[in-house]
Amino acid sequence: MEVVISSSAEQVDRLAADIVEHVVQSGPAVLGLATGSSPVGTYRELSRRHRENGLSFAQCRAFLLDEYIGVPRAAEQSYFAFIRDNFVDHVDLDGAAVYSPDGEADDIAREAQRYDAAIAEAGGADVQILGIGTDGHIGFNEPGSSLRSRTRVKTLTEQTRADNARFFDSPDEVPHHVLTQGLGTIGEARHLVLIATGESKADAVAAAVEGPLSAFCPASVIQWHPHVSVLLDDAAASALA
Ligand code: F6R
Repeated sequence: MEVVISSSAEQVDRLAADIVEHVVQSGPAVLGLATGSSPVGTYRELSRRHRENGLSFAQCRAFLLDEYIGVPRAAEQSYFAFIRDNFVDHVDLDGAAVYSPDGEADDIAREAQRYDAAIAEAGGADVQILGIGTDGHIGFNEPGSSLRSRTRVKTLTEQTRADNARFFDSPDEVPHHVLTQGLGTIGEARHLVLIATGESKADAVAAAVEGPLSAFCPASVIQWHPHVSVLLDDAAASALA
């Protein structure tokens, strides 16, 4: 695992974008995309490189980590919409090649299996962008998640619902349930890139990077992976030993 501590969030964004750019330029790539605030600067930087330098995503496919259950894809809070608003609509990545779990599927369990199989059929992600929750989740694998779990339904902790309330009109509107890639699914990506900025992430980052490998800090599963880059600003790194 490499841990890179930068003096600014912008530098974190550039380093993450460098990794994605390298993968994209190496041939038709399968990108694993996180949503939420952490990767937004990276997506902005990649969009700039597309606009100004011609970096092309036309040969890429992409898989999202997760989706809320019961939020229509057309709603701005859906991760389907979020990734389009913040990345896909700004580059030449074909929207039809950007996949996410269907949180409105009639048979959610079957949808979870289908999504896991679709990632495997695509050959797995070449690079997986990750954020980290303040409770140590990656994807929406909340504390207690099996380290080998596959895509499935999870119940959000109240901490995560409170953290994500900023994306909704009221805290009550934050869904309780999500479909998320499992820790085992995420671990099959060939390169994990975890992005964290700000002091609110410091304890979770320290637990993930320096704590015991434990289902109670799901992000600690990255310690098992052969190729991990943890990109932090000073504040997110402030609880590291
Ligand atoms: C989102 C996701 C989550 C977020 C995490 C951090 O697709 O999988 O694990 O990365 O909740 O969220 P932000 O970046 O908004 O602090």
